[in-house]
Amino acid sequence: MDDVSVIILAAGYGTRMKSKLAKVLHHVGGAPLIEHVIRAAMEIAPPERITAVVGHQSEKVRETVGHLGIHFQIQEEQLGTGHAVLVCRDLPHHATGKVVVMYGDCPLLRGETLSALVARHREVGVAAATLVTVTLENPRGYGRIFREDGFVARVVEEKAATAEEKLVRELNSGIYCFEAEPLWPHLASIKPNPASGEIYLTDMVETLRASGLKTAPFEVPDPSETVGINNRVELAEVDGMLRKRKANALMTAGVTIERPETVSIDTWVEVGPDTIVETGVQLRGRTVVGSDCRVGSHSILEDVILGGGAVVHPFSFVRAATIESEASVGPFARIRAGVVVESGAQVGNFVELKKTRLGKGSKAMHLTYLGDSTIGENVNIGAGTITCNYDGKKKHPTLIGAGAFVGSHSTLVAPVEVGEGAYVAAGSVITEKVPEDALALGRSRQTVKDGWAKRRREGRKE
Ligand code: UD1
Ligand code: CA
Repeated sequence: MDDVSVIILAAGYGTRMKSKLAKVLHHVGGAPLIEHVIRAAMEIAPPERITAVVGHQSEKVRETVGHLGIHFQIQEEQLGTGHAVLVCRDLPHHATGKVVVMYGDCPLLRGETLSALVARHREVGVAAATLVTVTLENPRGYGRIFREDGFVARVVEEKAATAEEKLVRELNSGIYCFEAEPLWPHLASIKPNPASGEIYLTDMVETLRASGLKTAPFEVPDPSETVGINNRVELAEVDGMLRKRKANALMTAGVTIERPETVSIDTWVEVGPDTIVETGVQLRGRTVVGSDCRVGSHSILEDVILGGGAVVHPFSFVRAATIESEASVGPFARIRAGVVVESGAQVGNFVELKKTRLGKGSKAMHLTYLGDSTIGENVNIGAGTITCNYDGKKKHPTLIGAGAFVGSHSTLVAPVEVGEGAYVAAGSVITEKVPEDALALGRSRQTVKDGWAKRRREGRKE
């Protein structure tokens, strides 16, 4: 397919979104509309042969998807779909071969459908263009397709269609495969539509035909793939469709999803087989879940790596962290950026971890905050332990050696170190290094006054 290039039309503002943000930057399936389209295009052409035509908020679009390595071409004024393609005329990567044209607001379109379009175009052989058509019960807003001898003779835009023409159910999806050589001179010859003043890409069909060149139809079996987004109701619908598609793909690949209609999984998340995803879970961003894991109800994982056999108990929020194999976190855990929970380690309820490494087999089971900490293997962090990592100006590290035991309700004032095998007595405030194998007591000694409570009850003075 190295003769294929792709032009993505994405210059429109999308007025009906009623948004500050250009339409193609709105998210479905966890990513901007245009990213889905670019990734589908990347299945038929390398990024250096893909151009996005941008206009409204072109800088923002470039910032958002520029890392994918495609070209951007500015269309200053939105003078129609034909004009949008025409601004790409002088780009050398579109000068020869096949030029596929598609819209930036159709995120359901699969790469394999684009491949099938190019394959059909090659198969037909004699056509200067192949146009993707769909048959819909409700054709509103689409250009109607008129065939002759099995080829497309013309496309009539809804606004120009007669009542009879409007009855046609075969419609223009807006996706085309053109031969580059006839495309550019013919496109340049199209006159603006007299009613709207726009240059319509759909006029290519008749323009080619006038020169004896053919446009072949390619009817896709699943019309829902070509659905475009015009407003936020459609945005939500398409988002739901992408998530359903994602859940189905994962279930087919061996993942159990409880009540999939309640689960929200972003398009590029990976989940290994025999993992169980419970009701109401969200898996976001670039999350990679291993096999044999369990993700508990209503947990949210964003950009998380979860090793094989790891468990996230319900109602946990984990972001930009790594939970290694056989480790467990939650319920009600908050695991923040830069955390590594090493294999077999356990984080329990109401525990917050930030930029912390919890060593193999270590435990922090209850009501704890560990920030900027490095904790060795097989350490026990008692309930209510707090690392005081912030002095009001700077963050400071806490180091806890392997095998150490930190008693409940300890306060570790960073920077501070607890040596390997050391023991911190419950309720201590630790401000200085605790040497290896030592016991540190950082609290006042208990005083007992015999009979004091009884005397008080009986109203006697001390
Ligand atoms: C277009 C087709 C119609 C087809 C329908 C399918 C034409 C004239 N009509 O109509 O036959 O059934 O798509 O959805 O082509 N764009 C630009 N620059 C412009 C104009 C548009 O980049 O100057 C982009 C828009 O951002 C959008 C896409 O092209 O993503 C389609 O434009 P739109 O105006 O929505 O076309 P339709 O009227 O829907
Ligand atoms: Ca449209």
